[in-house]
Amino acid sequence: ATIRAGSYTEELLQTAKSIASPGRGILAIDESNATCGKRLASIGLDNTEANRQAYRQLLLTTSGLGEYISGAILFEETLYQSTIDGTKFVDCLRGENIVPGIKVDKGLVPLPGSNSESWCQGLDGLASRRTVVSIPCGPSALAVKEAAWGLARYAAIAQDNGLVPIVEPEILLDGDHAIERTLEVAENVWAEVFFYLAQNNVVFEGILLKPSMVTPGAEHKEKASPETIAKYTLTMLKRRVPPAVPGIMFLSGGQSEVQATLNLNAMNQSPNPWHVSFSYARALQNTVLKTWKGQPENVETAQKALLIRAKANSMAQLGRYSA
Ligand code: 13P
Repeated sequence: ATIRAGSYTEELLQTAKSIASPGRGILAIDESNATCGKRLASIGLDNTEANRQAYRQLLLTTSGLGEYISGAILFEETLYQSTIDGTKFVDCLRGENIVPGIKVDKGLVPLPGSNSESWCQGLDGLASRRTVVSIPCGPSALAVKEAAWGLARYAAIAQDNGLVPIVEPEILLDGDHAIERTLEVAENVWAEVFFYLAQNNVVFEGILLKPSMVTPGAEHKEKASPETIAKYTLTMLKRRVPPAVPGIMFLSGGQSEVQATLNLNAMNQSPNPWHVSFSYARALQNTVLKTWKGQPENVETAQKALLIRAKANSMAQLGRYSA
């Protein structure tokens, strides 16, 4: 009641806290059918519902996953699917004490009047927003404002329906810019996101933030060390994110599996006011896919590969990972 009267407030706080629990993070498997198709194509499989089901079954029936994973973000199709022997995927998750989540955005479309930037559909008729800001074309004030406002409206609507919104202002890694430029853009984007979240009366204790790390552009001439990435990213978090936000769950954004783990570990070397953790898709799944190759006899080994990455990131969340 000290926070804001609302029928779901207690539940929201509980859910957010349970996801942001020590040594655990989020497994993102919310690839749209089109994106999942690309992943399947990389191992020579057709993009059929049966193949998507088989792949998601592999991930979601990994025994012991809940020790390292507190939440899973699903695509709508997966939310309603079951294992071959009829257990609903959401029940597999509950069995491991993993909170199921759902991606509700409807994809990116061009944003008229901007620098060829995009915005994300799906606010009408409940919505979620994952939205992207790209640096090379110079994020226009319009794109930043639209992204921030959209995220804030989505967060307010989700909370009103008892769902913990994962607020994802993704700044894409593409480009040859230096890390200072990413910091500048991120500070600008986050300032607006939190301004509009406040304007929309979003309960900060009941959201999770899913940002990109502050890194140099992927095509920049020099790579940054995990220590440098941690320093810049933490600077930005401290300047922009209120400690009321329970969890900062980073996306991997195309970093390699080990890089993503090392960067997270570096961020957890000093105390900070939030739970700084992961919400990785590619950085948890790349080896799993390559190990599985669509062959039933490889399922067990692929599940072991998933547990290896999940455990590594769990250790990194605690600041205790060593390669
Ligand atoms: P990556 O970790 O592959 O960047 O994906 C995160 C994400 O946004 C999926 O929801």
